[in-house]
Amino acid sequence: MIDRARELVEKSVRPVVFTGAGMSRESGMRTFRGEDGLWKDFDPEKLSSIRGLVEDPGTVWEWYRMRFMKTEGVKPHRGYIALTALQSRKGSLPVVTQNVDGLHRESGQRDVLEIHGSMRSASCIRKCGFTRELDRELVQSLPPLCPECGAVLRPDIVLFGEPLPHELISRAYSLAEECDLMIVVGTSVQVWPAAGVPFTAIENGAYIIEINPDPSELSGSDRVISIRGKAGEVLPLLMEKLQENL
Ligand code: OAD
Repeated sequence: MIDRARELVEKSVRPVVFTGAGMSRESGMRTFRGEDGLWKDFDPEKLSSIRGLVEDPGTVWEWYRMRFMKTEGVKPHRGYIALTALQSRKGSLPVVTQNVDGLHRESGQRDVLEIHGSMRSASCIRKCGFTRELDRELVQSLPPLCPECGAVLRPDIVLFGEPLPHELISRAYSLAEECDLMIVVGTSVQVWPAAGVPFTAIENGAYIIEINPDPSELSGSDRVISIRGKAGEVLPLLMEKLQENL
């Protein structure tokens, strides 16, 4: 299986990476679904929706303070480093991610499309133009208010009930239409429209390498090579013995 995957990586001329929460699991981040998923213990409608933020900003910000504290000091694992190496060897390897933890950028990757936004900054909910880093100081007194217009600030994450940033999601779909290989890591492919990205790649004739300990709706298609394993183990293995002339 891994040999077939390596062969696909070697041959591909327009590869793309697509990741979800499982990509960061071995860096210590929890996933959303499954046994130890965040949405088992917490209600996304209350804590991570635009309605929740408007009705009860204090509670929503308590949740984001907790999530911020969990991401502080988190470092990219070996799988991230392997992807960074693959990107520099391939020249072009756009990374479409549903993750908001910033680890793709932190591991030195370029052309990263954070289609669900980023935990690294916050901005004015009224869109007055104010924006700042989401850091320890910001989450000291909650909810944080805009120093320019007094409205509540929001984390720059796509909340439930909001559309995805138009430019990013349309570029992600274009990449899916044009790529010949998509390396899909650590996603349950259940949240749309993000989940449509790998399905669009298949419809347009691309191969998929799926890296995930568990099956998903992608698994089983004859264009999908499913490698059952963890991102931090499989990605470095995939990079081993790749031909020098990639
Ligand atoms: P999920 O929590 O739905 O799925 C995580 C996937 O990672 C599962 O398929 C696991 O089997 C897999 N997994 C677990 N550990 C892994 C490991 N070490 N290596 C590789 N895979 C592993 O997360 P997403 O698919 O990312 O949205 O969820 C999509 C969206 O739902 C998130 O972006 C978030 C959430 O609500 C927003 O916040 C807008």
